[in-house]
Amino acid sequence: MTYCPTAAPAWQALTAHAAQIKPRHLRELFAEDDQRFQHFSRSQGDLLLDFSKQRITAETLTLLQGLWREADVPGWIKRLRGGEAINHTEGRAVLHTALRRSGPEPVLFQGKDVMPDIRRVLDQMQEFCAAVHSGDWKGASGERIRDVVNIGIGGSDLGARMASLALVAEQVPDLHVHYVSNLDGAHLATTLAKLHPATTLFIVASKTFTTQETMQNARSARDWVVQKLGEKAVAHHFVAVSTNHAEVAKFGIAPQNVFEFWDWVGGRFSLWSAIGLPLALAIGFEKFSQFLAGAEAMDKHFFNAPVEENLPATLALLEVWNTNFLGAATRVLLPYSQSLEVLVSYLQQLEMESNGKQVDRDGAAVSYDTAPILWGESGTNGQHAFYQLIHQGGSLIPCEFLVLKEADYPLPGHHEMLLANCFAQSDALMRGKTVEEVRAEMAASGLSPEAVDALSPYRVFPGNQPSTTLLMSRLTPHTLGQLIALYEHKVFTLGVLWNLNSFDQWGVEFGKQLANKLLPMLEGKATVTGLDSSTAGLIAACKEN
Ligand code: F6P
Repeated sequence: MTYCPTAAPAWQALTAHAAQIKPRHLRELFAEDDQRFQHFSRSQGDLLLDFSKQRITAETLTLLQGLWREADVPGWIKRLRGGEAINHTEGRAVLHTALRRSGPEPVLFQGKDVMPDIRRVLDQMQEFCAAVHSGDWKGASGERIRDVVNIGIGGSDLGARMASLALVAEQVPDLHVHYVSNLDGAHLATTLAKLHPATTLFIVASKTFTTQETMQNARSARDWVVQKLGEKAVAHHFVAVSTNHAEVAKFGIAPQNVFEFWDWVGGRFSLWSAIGLPLALAIGFEKFSQFLAGAEAMDKHFFNAPVEENLPATLALLEVWNTNFLGAATRVLLPYSQSLEVLVSYLQQLEMESNGKQVDRDGAAVSYDTAPILWGESGTNGQHAFYQLIHQGGSLIPCEFLVLKEADYPLPGHHEMLLANCFAQSDALMRGKTVEEVRAEMAASGLSPEAVDALSPYRVFPGNQPSTTLLMSRLTPHTLGQLIALYEHKVFTLGVLWNLNSFDQWGVEFGKQLANKLLPMLEGKATVTGLDSSTAGLIAACKEN
């Protein structure tokens, strides 16, 4: 049956309820309930979610939980786990959770258990990691591998890159893993400038093995190896991760050097498959297994916990509240952890490629907002860049703070200062500062009444900016696995609440098609015709050189 979110009774009740909440200030809500933190925080595994600084009351939460039931999120979880083709526009199942499954039960896709294939590839990855780490895997001239370069883009890059940086404190010694994604030759050239072909191994990571950026970078890397070591060296220096065996073979990579994955793994959900190979090489297979186990723990929680306790559900419902009922157009992610720097880019793909859509599951245009624009920066760098606008710019910007209880690099004095900054920001954004407070503070500092009159308006902060703080115990493979799975399930839940197919990405295809049309014109192999004057003018200007 067709589901229309805005027609759901809970949606309508939330619309009426939002009119009561909008004029209220978070200060008042905190003043009314000194147990607000206890009432609006939940723990799961190594994560503590404090959403007491969101603009909600107990009634808001109850109404939002009603929306989860009316949208039948539990029914969609069953379809997801049952291998149904819920990515209906591509006719594909969505089974990335099977990739981190440790139990003996089968996971069926079209009547066949996918678990034996998953275990076979995991075994292959484990053997490969052991061979590279021990030095048994040798380059063409007999030297051991010192550097690994992953060539991929989007889901075939961001997840492993994000996690390798997040877990940099856990990396194996004497092996450096690099990531090249950008088509701009500067990315590959500057990476290769530091490396030696004889001791470098390339992973060409591409689900389709046809992605323009990846294939161009892979060809250039291949030339670099072949020029120095000859054609036969390709077998020693290239492995592939792909679903497209025919294209991999054309590139010249031997079948035994291919790590398979499957159509039922979406690109931006593929980190748990062989796409995670560079991560497994960076931190070792044992820690990669702990990363999978962390994700599995979150899967179990998401599948089984009631909505009242469910962390991914809570995050998704709060996003719907802020986006559809309070009118936020963006959300800012503020990881107070240098190691989580790439998380913003990773989540931009996960969230915006999944739910940045305006056509619902039934092919109809939606009448409500979907994925907010996600942006962000690691703390405290962001404080010295854009926080001014969050404090005084006048837009509603829900903030998501992410911080570790325990530092991964415990230099004396740093972590307490970092925590103080993080908590001070969410407090200031919640509380704001009234004109009376500003005037009293200025007068107490000895300023003249004239100066107080002149300067006080600039120093007022409206506050009431909602935020969530996700406190993680430590950045370990297991914790990171929980965190990433938490966001995956949040994205899935939002897709259900907004009645979207979160697993296709037709918008990305459009740009790819046009680039293929323009390329021969830029190469001088086709006449520049049929273009708008701007595009034609830009091409002509480039060709002048
Ligand atoms: O960004 C679009 C996209 O199709 C992603 O979904 C995918 O992760 C990425 O391109 C890379 O695709 P492939 O792994 O096929 O090279």
